[in-house]
Amino acid sequence: MSSTTEYLSLLHRPRRLRRTSSLRRMVRETQLTVNDLIYPVFVMEGENQQQEIPSMPEIYRYTLDLLLKEIADAANLGINAIALFPLIPTEKKDNAGTESYNPDGLVQHTIKAIKQEIPEMTVITDVALDPFSSYGHDGIVKDGKILNDETVEVLVKQAISQAEAGADIVAPSDMMDGRIGAIRQGLDAAGYFEVGILAYSAKYASAYYGPFRDALESAPQFGDKQTYQMNPANSREAIKEVALDIAEGADIVMVKPALAYLDIIGRIKEYTNLPVAAYNVSGEYAMVKAAAEQGWIDEKQVILETLTSMKRAGADLILTYFAKQVALMLR
Ligand code: PBG
Repeated sequence: MSSTTEYLSLLHRPRRLRRTSSLRRMVRETQLTVNDLIYPVFVMEGENQQQEIPSMPEIYRYTLDLLLKEIADAANLGINAIALFPLIPTEKKDNAGTESYNPDGLVQHTIKAIKQEIPEMTVITDVALDPFSSYGHDGIVKDGKILNDETVEVLVKQAISQAEAGADIVAPSDMMDGRIGAIRQGLDAAGYFEVGILAYSAKYASAYYGPFRDALESAPQFGDKQTYQMNPANSREAIKEVALDIAEGADIVMVKPALAYLDIIGRIKEYTNLPVAAYNVSGEYAMVKAAAEQGWIDEKQVILETLTSMKRAGADLILTYFAKQVALMLR
């Protein structure tokens, strides 16, 4: 230390608490744990096949037999929940998404098999028409418009058929008005009081969903989703959507995407006492993987920093394609 140093007269020196790793651990505010993670998975028809999604390295669509292994793996890593999405063959798609409530459909079979083989795994199912829609939209199309109330009728049937198959939580991702209330009533009337609703409450019309639509071959065949998903420029409107979903009976509310919407997660967390979920979506996954493949970022550090930021913002639960990778890192 040079004798010429003029020491600052500081009462507070925040660096004191950053000096050693044990001190840093002691004052850490946010802890990411495996209990926060929900693993989204893709299922397809057939046997003994897996297909990597080109825009999502290391993420596959699996046939049911292989999906069960993947889910057993996730369970062994301590992951509590999966979110299930189906790849539906084109010939089974139609405008009203009728395949979505086929009791012998791919989703229904998959739910039953998971609950039979790995009963402790919480199964969250997607309620929306887009994987089943010949137009790739989240609702019934008429004259180039997406019909609201007609679509909600189908969503209710879809949710009930998922509950019947054994889903623990249904997760409407469609953004039709009034669907949470209609689904809650429908589930209750059918006796499924115990099935929860994870509402995609603040779901934005985002360009970050591209790789997911590749995975499900579900890109909109015309137009975009701006008449039902939210404008990325809006924040107060997210509170309005959350308020409606809570009033209609949501058990968990979600913000989607996550990374570009941390402010929304924060606002919603302050607004409600319900658990808040965030969806670290396919495009967010793809960006990290692509940069890491180039050697431009440290993949593991970026993943942990990103997911920690979502928790710090207020997310209690995070849907992430990194779930298995993170569960391993947290061991
Ligand atoms: C549609 C749905 C989408 C995602 C989940 N459900 C995409 C969309 O709205 O087109 C995206 C998830 C992701 O990008 O990881 N119901």
